[in-house]
This record gives sequence, C-alpha cells and structure tokens, in this order.
Amino acid sequence: MRVVEPRSLTRSNLVYREPALYDELLADTSITADLMAFASRHEANVRTVLDLGCGTGRLLAELHGHGFTCTGIDLQPDLVAWAERTHPGLRLAVGDLRTVRLGDTFDLVTSVGNSLSYLHTEIELAAAFDTIRAHSHPGTLLTIATLTAPAQRTRLQRCDDLTRRRNRHDDLRVGSAHSDLDHRPQLVLRHRSRRARHHAPPLLEHRTAL
Ligand SMILES: C[S@@+](CC[C@H](N)C(=O)[O-])C[C@H]1O[C@@H](n2cnc3c(N)ncnc32)[C@H](O)[C@@H]1O
Repeated sequence: MRVVEPRSLTRSNLVYREPALYDELLADTSITADLMAFASRHEANVRTVLDLGCGTGRLLAELHGHGFTCTGIDLQPDLVAWAERTHPGLRLAVGDLRTVRLGDTFDLVTSVGNSLSYLHTEIELAAAFDTIRAHSHPGTLLTIATLTAPAQRTRLQRCDDLTRRRNRHDDLRVGSAHSDLDHRPQLVLRHRSRRARHHAPPLLEHRTAL
C-alpha cells in the first residue's frame, strides 16, 4: 500500500499548518446535528463515536459536548496534538485510517469532511472498510461524508473555467487547468500548466490526482 507521509499532507495545505484557521474557516459544525438525527432515526443507542481522519477534532468536540464518548484518529501528529490541547475530553491518537486497530468497537463510526478522498485506490478503500469493520459491532452505524469523483470534477471544472477567464487579461503569465475523470481508478486528474506568454512553452506543468 502507498506510504503517505504525514508531513507531505501538512505541507500540502495551509490550514493543516494553522489548525485554528481551519476551525475558523470550517466553523459550520451542523453535520453533527445530522449525525445525531441519523442515530435517532435508526433508534440506535449511540454512546461511543470513532471519527476516522478527525483533523482538528472540531466535530468530535461538539459531539462530546452532547455527552458522547468520542475517539478520533488522524495521520497528522501536529493536528492530533493541537486537538488534544484544545479539546481535553477527547480520546485521540495518531493513526492511519487504512491500518489502525484500536482494539475496541464503537456505536457510531464516522469519516466525514472528505477524509476518504485521500485514498486513491480500491485497495486503500478496502483497507479503510476493513478498519471500519474492525471497530464495529452488530448495530454499529456508519456515516461517511466525502466527495465522489464526478462531483469533485464538476467543482474543479468550475474553478478551471474561472482561472481561464482571469488569465485572458494576463498575457504575461498564462495558466490553464483541466480536470479529467479517469474512470478505471475513479480518480480526478488535474492537469495544470503555466506559461510566460500565450504561445510560449510551459514553464511548469503538473498533474495531480484528487
Ligand atoms: C479535510 S480534513 C477533515 C477533517 C475532519 N474530518 C473535519 O471534518 O474537520 C481530512 C483529514 O483526513 C486526514 N487523513 C488523510 N489521510 C488519512 C489517513 N490515511 N489516515 C488518517 N487520517 C487521514 C488528514 O490528515 C486530515 O486531517
């Protein structure tokens, strides 16, 4: 399985380096109300929650405030350390949601806020579901909130169109981006290039899998 360096995740995103900013930008925690409504709709007696890819622990903290016993794991040690300092009532650990085994089961397992979007292959997704199974007992509820490739592609295409429009007026540095859905692995591939002038060879080209 692909080795994911926590530091590369941290480097990839400003808000992972600035967890307070992350929480400020994502202050909407209404998904926790959805989680509780989901549990009550299924008449489940949920007391314990495991969040896979819990980030700053913002959602767990809110659930904890409603009386749930909350556990979270995340790959990034700095985020986990920050969550531990900020929300002392949570049980947190550094771990990879593809492989972590806590030796316990939970009434509700969640992975929200697109944490599963970081998994790029069927094997990685299957490993995540093995983790979910390992932490479930009969009656455990599962909630996943993540972008699927076609939705992500539509969103990126809109960003790409905006970039193109902005660049039409900028003949010094021209950037273009184009997103494609690779159907077999279900990955969105984003091609980007930067040129000094319209017909100049690219200064920089890269392709990202999302
Ligand atoms: C966009 S954040 C969402 C965080 C949180 N669920 C929320 O809604 O605020 C995605 C999180 O997934 C974590 N993550 C990505 N790959 C992971 C993995 N293999 N194991 C554990 N956490 C992972 C990242 O470190 C990051 O904190």
